[in-house]
Parts: sequence; C-alpha cells; structure tokens
Amino acid sequence: MATVTQTSRATICPNYINGQWVESRSGKTVERRNPANHSDLLGLSPLSSREEIRQAVEAARGALPGWRETPPLLRGRLILRAAQRMEEEKDNLARLLTREEGKTVKEATGEILRTVNILEYMAGEDSRLTGETLPSQLPKNFAYTIRQPLGVVGLITPWNFPVAVPLWKIAPALVCGNTVVWKPSELTPFTSRQVVDILVRAGLPAGVLNMVNGAGEEVGDELVDHPAVRGISFTGSCEVGSRIYAKAAKKMKKVQCEMGGKNPVVVLDDADLELAANCTVMGAFGSTGQRCTATSRVIVTEAVADKFVQMLIERTKPLKVGDGAEAGTSVGPSVDEAQFDKVQEYLKIGKKEGKLLCGGERLRGAYDHGYFTAPTIFDHVRPDARIAQEEIFGPVLSVIRVKDFEEAVQVANNIRYGLAASVFSTDANLIFQFADRVECGIVHINSPTVGGEAHVPFGGVKDSGLGERETGSTAIDFYSELKVVYVDYTGRKRETNIY
Ligand code: UN1
Repeated sequence: MATVTQTSRATICPNYINGQWVESRSGKTVERRNPANHSDLLGLSPLSSREEIRQAVEAARGALPGWRETPPLLRGRLILRAAQRMEEEKDNLARLLTREEGKTVKEATGEILRTVNILEYMAGEDSRLTGETLPSQLPKNFAYTIRQPLGVVGLITPWNFPVAVPLWKIAPALVCGNTVVWKPSELTPFTSRQVVDILVRAGLPAGVLNMVNGAGEEVGDELVDHPAVRGISFTGSCEVGSRIYAKAAKKMKKVQCEMGGKNPVVVLDDADLELAANCTVMGAFGSTGQRCTATSRVIVTEAVADKFVQMLIERTKPLKVGDGAEAGTSVGPSVDEAQFDKVQEYLKIGKKEGKLLCGGERLRGAYDHGYFTAPTIFDHVRPDARIAQEEIFGPVLSVIRVKDFEEAVQVANNIRYGLAASVFSTDANLIFQFADRVECGIVHINSPTVGGEAHVPFGGVKDSGLGERETGSTAIDFYSELKVVYVDYTGRKRETNIY
C-alpha cells in the first residue's frame, strides 16, 4: 500500500451507498498509481470506516423486501442490460483496468468479454430458480422445494480480476434476490466504480448493491462480523480466507472462499511437446502470473525433460515485458510494491533452491518507473522446495523432474493447494487416470491451467476453495437457501400424519 494522506487535490474514489455516490468521511486514503508508470496517479482510494460499512448494510437491509419481491425475470433483465452496456463500453473499461491493475489491454478485454458471458448466463438463471417436487410416502401428500435469498450478502474481492470476480458474485447474488454490500480491493477502486456505474445505468434500485472501499482489517472485518449479513463470498489469499471462515463460523454465516493455487502442468513422455510448451508459457506468464489458476509448477518426466525445458526457454525469452497499454506487450508489471517485493524475495529463494534458466531479476533502465520482473524459470526444483510449494503470484515457474506418471501424480498432489491442474499426454488411459486422481477442482487436458467458462463451475479443493463452486449453476446454490414445503391435501380434520 502506498502512502496514507489526509488531504489531497487528487480525485477520491467515492463509495456507493443507498443509491448515492458519497465521499468517505474517514479522511484516510491511499494513492493508486499505475503499476507500469509510477508518475501516473489515478487518484485516491478511501480507507472507509466501520461506520460506513454499517450504513451500507442498513441500506441493503432496507432494500431487501422490495428486491426479494421483484420477479426474478426483472432481476435477470437488469443483469442482461448491464451485460449489454459492458460490451458496448469494453474498450474504455479495458484501458482503465490496464492502467489501474497492469494487465495488458488484450487480457483486460478478455476479462471483460468473459464477464459479459457470465452476466448473460446469470441473467438467464432468473428462469431456472427451480426446486423439485417429491412424492410422499403417505397418500394425498407431497413435498416441494423452493429457493429463497439468504438476505444481505457481503462480497470481498481481489484486484487481479477486478471486473470478472466481483460480477460473478454480484450477478447470482442479485438474481437470487439478495441485496449486497461489496468491498472491492483497495488497489482497484476506479475499475470497481465503473462496474457499479454500469449496474446503476442498467437500472439498479437504491440499496440493492452498495460498494464500500477500504482495508480488509477494517471494513472487511466489519462486513464479516455484522449480524445482518447472512453470507460472505470471498476471493483472495488462504490466510485471509481462513480468518473469514473462523470469524463467520461464530455467527453461523454461510461462507464461500476462493483462494490460492500452485497449479501444476504435468508433461508425460508421449505429450505433444510443442503444445505443452506453448500452453505452459501462456499459463505461467499471462497476466504476469497474477491469477489463482496460473501455472507455477511444471512436472515433467525425465525422458523428455531436457528437450521440454529448452522449448520453454525459447518461448519465454522473447516475451515482451512492459506497459500493458502498449501494443505488443505480453507481460505487464506486478500490481504494486508489496507484490513486486514478494516476487523479488522468491527470486532470491529460487536461486538457492533451483537452477536459474532465464529471468531471475527485476528489469532496470527504461523499466525503473514500474514493477517489472523478467519472466523466470527455475529447473531441477525439488518438490518440497519453497518455490514449488508457496504461491508467488508473479512470473515465476518451477520445473520439477520426475521419473514416471506415478511420481508425477504424487508430486502434483503433495501440496496444500488444489485449484487447477493440466496434463499433456496422448495416452487416453493415463489422461483419465490423472483426471481421476489429481486433487483439484479443475482439470485441463492438453490445455493451460488458466481460465474457465461462464456456465461451468469454478473452484478448488484443499486450501484453494471452500463452499459451493462459483460461476455456472452452482453459484445459485450459494446465494439461495432451500426451503421444503410439505403439502397434505387429504382434507382430514383430526388425524395427523406425523410418525
Ligand atoms: C481465472 O484465472 O480464469 O483470483 C480467473 C483469481 C481467480 C479468478 C481467476 N479467482 O485469480
């Protein structure tokens, strides 16, 4: 986080509470600068107070009865109108995202178009809020289930997908009839403001969605603690996720956490090495490695390891690092100083733990004004090394050599994380055995570890994920409660069915 300032003429990003854009009264802000160019100040991100979260929760509580009663069709239409606006405005939004977060304009546009798909899919969920009917064991009786909103839900989202992740939470929450208090990352306040603005222009009623900027320890904590908030959906680090889970458990809240990853690509003897190398480099260095599904481990069998490693180097060295706004850039900066410092620390650790093949240092000279690191590969890394076990969230890849398929599966699974994994092979038996045995939520066969489609569940196991999967129809399971209704239509007056 940059300096805390009390006063400044730079734009302060407003909060959105009860249908109004309001400036935080805390008087505390942090600067948000372009990570590719420190002299470019976007403005100030407010560090709002707990009181401001409480106001937002009150607004969401006030709007709940009306929104809950609004027919799902109309709730879905709001989301659909937002999808249309977002598609129309994608170029400006992508440029803002790049300026604030650092990813390339192409990646930012990809994120926005993926979000449009998510919104379109979720808008259609309005007509799929179904239950089931169940026959009774008694005559002239049956039971049915209905889905109802949780109430007020709290959403806490990260900076690395500041459009997609918030909207893949907001859209199902709203379609199900919940009202929302959203705390975006303090690193992407201006992109978050645009997300809300699109929803407002799509016809969002006052109080249905509220956004409060601020720090996790302050406003995030208050949101998790507030008795009126019935569900929390969080995306971010394992450390914060486990704190949220523990805190929310005391108040019996429903929790969904989407957390880190240390996603392996497994390359077997019979793999198409060209394809595997292209997908690995893309998965490792795309988005500067700053995504929970990024490829950060390559597990390759000895027989092809030398050749494969050579192919990785050939594809990594030419990658153009730079400002994501410039054409031709493939790898942008780290998002901020803290993230950048963390990457530099892991480069030092990696030099002790593995053999450096390329990169390994911050870029200097013309790069001094941003947080740029050369895409880095370490070879001969032991499976239990820190760079093979810990999430770095930067352009750093570790190669682990194994003797065969069995060892590859063992190494892939011997880790606290379990989000995504890829296998490259042409042997159908091994591919399906891998899909069965690898401990993760998303398996890719002959494709990169990154990404996911709008209508498909997204999430992980072990320390990577908790609660229902996001996106796809399972998102609805988190944002709705199931109610069972027993119906007796015998017309009996005296007897009872209870047994
Ligand atoms: C993706 O990698 O396709 O924090 C999306 C993250 C994820 C979103 C990833 N929750 O990186």
